[in-house]
Amino acid sequence: MDEAKKEGRYKRLVVQIEELLKKSPDDISAMATISSVLFNKMDYFFWVGFYRYTGIKLIVGPYQGPPACQVLEGKGVCLASAEKKKTVIVPNVHEFPGHIACDSRSNSEIVVPVKNRAGEVVAVLDVDSKDFGSFTNIDAQYLEQIVKFLEKWS
Ligand code: SME
Repeated sequence: MDEAKKEGRYKRLVVQIEELLKKSPDDISAMATISSVLFNKMDYFFWVGFYRYTGIKLIVGPYQGPPACQVLEGKGVCLASAEKKKTVIVPNVHEFPGHIACDSRSNSEIVVPVKNRAGEVVAVLDVDSKDFGSFTNIDAQYLEQIVKFLEKWS
C-alpha cells in the first residue's frame, strides 16, 4: 500500500477505534476491538494482536490471525520492544537475530510497546505481514497513537 493511502486509512481508523473504545469496559475488550478493526481494515496485516508483559516474559492476549505462540521468553522482536520500551520495525524477520517464528509465512513485523500512565510497559502490539518491508514510520506513528488509548485502563 502506498504511504499516502496508508496514512489516509490510519486517520479514519484512529477515529473509528477511539469511538468504539468508549464502550469498552476493560483493557481486554479494548485490545480485542483494536485487533479486530486493524485485522479487517488493513489488508497487509496477516497477524495482529497483543502480548501482555510480566516484566520477564510475554503472554498472548487478544489477537486476530492464525494461532500464535502463547508465551514468548528469552528472545524475539516482541521482547526486544518491551525491554527497550521502543517501537521496533523489522523489514525482514529472517535477518533479526532471535526472531521467534510463530508462523513461517510472516516476513516483516512491527512491535509497539503499550505503556501505562506511569510509562511502564504492560503489553506490546505485534503486527506481522507476509510481505517484506511492509511497515514504515507511518505504521509506527499511528499504531503508537492507537495503543495510547489503552492508558485509560492502566
Ligand atoms: N515474531 C514475534 C513472535 C510473535 S508472532 O510473530 C505472533 C517475536 O519474534 O517476538
